Amino acid sequence: MVLTVPTSALVRPPAVLERSRSLVEPELRAAVSPLHPELARMAAYSFGWCEADGVAAESRGGKMLRSALALLSAELVGARAEKAVPGALGVELLHAFSLIHDDIMDADEQRRHRPTVWKAYGTGSAILAGDVLAAIAFRAVSQDRHAQEAGNAVKLLSQAMVDLCEGQAADISFERRPWLGSGQVTVAEYRAMAAGKTGALIACSLAIGAVLCGSSSVVVNTLLKTGHGLGLAFQITDDVLSGTGDPQATGKPVLNDLRAGKKTYPVLAALSAPGSASAQLRSLLAAQEAASADDPADQSDETLARIGALVAEAGGYEQAAQEARRLAHSSLTALENGHFHAGPIGELQDLAAFLLDRSA
Ligand code: IPE
Ligand code: IPE
Ligand code: MG
Ligand code: MG
Repeated sequence: MVLTVPTSALVRPPAVLERSRSLVEPELRAAVSPLHPELARMAAYSFGWCEADGVAAESRGGKMLRSALALLSAELVGARAEKAVPGALGVELLHAFSLIHDDIMDADEQRRHRPTVWKAYGTGSAILAGDVLAAIAFRAVSQDRHAQEAGNAVKLLSQAMVDLCEGQAADISFERRPWLGSGQVTVAEYRAMAAGKTGALIACSLAIGAVLCGSSSVVVNTLLKTGHGLGLAFQITDDVLSGTGDPQATGKPVLNDLRAGKKTYPVLAALSAPGSASAQLRSLLAAQEAASADDPADQSDETLARIGALVAEAGGYEQAAQEARRLAHSSLTALENGHFHAGPIGELQDLAAFLLDRSA
């Protein structure tokens, strides 16, 4: 079998995302609703089930990617998707925790087309909402009927959370590092950061179903490797969307990463590209970095738009898209070892294609 990621300009959402919504969302609701009413309401708001005041809403929330990967993980090793449900629930809850805290760290005010949880309820309450979602993520996984597999899945999820926090720490520290000159953030450092903040939970998701099915360490490690590659590809695509995406589609503002000094792949790629756009980008960013604290760098929307345009002209977004595609292809080839079932491999290929071409 030759594994490729299909290329299509407009790939429709793969069925596994809808399957994960119908299988996992009722479990999410059951996990969240017994919490203290304040916590239950913030969690329900973050999933799109209610407005900030608690009135029921029909928003779709997130893509349910991580739970979909968990279901495919069980199917890849020949089991039924239902076997992975405690894991799917756990990774989706941990993802929800990470987004709520991430928006506080990034001072972002919009997510999933609405005000972020801290913006709607205040920072203290939002921290607590994130905390409780992380706690019930572990409880969900630990409650699998098979104690040994549940223990292994809890270990896997805790390592993912450690790696995610380390990646987030690197992401924040890079804001204070320069784009250019001594101390500049390298592409290798970017990769390690993104592998942590995003790759770790995506890798865990693609492995947790197999862990709950009692798969061998060879199988689990292969899934982790593939998941890491897909996760890095996913984050690079998220970086592209943060520069070029339509807020109507992404539900998040555009160019906020640049405003915050986040070190994203497209800008790093544009900085080392040949040509005059790259040279102009370097001098604009150098001028910004030279501005002192008394004379803050120009962060106007016009300047940010100019930087974004130079990144585009220097081919930064194009190179990022190519790198995401290369990573997705090579990570899927790791599944060509005969351990995995063809049907779910096909679904994973379609999912990877959708994630690379997504607009949200
Ligand atoms: C957003 O993840 C955070 C990143 C890791 C880039 P998703 O794009 O999967 O978020 P939702 O769940 O669909 O909103
Ligand atoms: C992604 O963070 C990783 C986590 C949320 C843990 P980002 O800050 O890059 O993602 P968005 O763009 O806010 O969704
Ligand atoms: Mg963020
Ligand atoms: Mg962040």
